[in-house]
Amino acid sequence: MNNVNILVVYASTEGQTRRIAERIAIQVREAGHQAELRNCIDWQSNIDVDSSDRVIVAGSVHEKRHQRPLEMFVMANLAHLQAKPNLFLSVSLSAAFEDGKAEAQSYADAFFDYTGWTPAQTLLVAGALRYEEYDYFMEQIVDHVVLKDRDVAGQNGEREFTDWDAVSRTVDAFLAS
Ligand SMILES: Cc1cc2nc3c(=O)[nH]c(=O)nc-3n(C[C@H](O)[C@H](O)[C@H](O)COP(=O)(O)O)c2cc1C
Repeated sequence: MNNVNILVVYASTEGQTRRIAERIAIQVREAGHQAELRNCIDWQSNIDVDSSDRVIVAGSVHEKRHQRPLEMFVMANLAHLQAKPNLFLSVSLSAAFEDGKAEAQSYADAFFDYTGWTPAQTLLVAGALRYEEYDYFMEQIVDHVVLKDRDVAGQNGEREFTDWDAVSRTVDAFLAS
């Protein structure tokens, strides 16, 4: 594939999806392409989908739903998105567990329902636990609703479940396709 311009749009609440998107942008550039990395804080943030050749969209799940600005961004740019090769990454903690995969898939399916987008390819990505970022209520939700009382936190209340190799392989395949 010749040098192409890849737009990487992400929404991240505690920072893990931002890390993933940043690594993807580095990988794209190392493969000799251009990467435009954009944080979708606001769906009106003037992100130009039309002038890119391919698009990667990444968002994370909180209380079973991806960031609303990302939903709005996809809805507002649906026609342009669907006209280009595209890849969607859905980051959640459920994706980290064998018995959570169906739930992780259900968040992605809900995103497709809300936005009307059917990505060409979707990767469910395991996120991270970062207790230092949570207030008391977030901690309760993560422990009892998301983790269902699994005791998996590492030292300092942090644990990264992201399978970086799987992300990198998927991006390689996307670039090669
Ligand atoms: C308040 C809160 C709610 C969450 N809700 C869910 C959820 O419903 N399902 C899930 O699988 N993960 C859930 N998570 C886990 C996040 O998806 C995970 O921590 C992810 O890495 C966050 O990505 P980000 O740092 O890019 O925002 C939740 C995390 C927090 C803090």
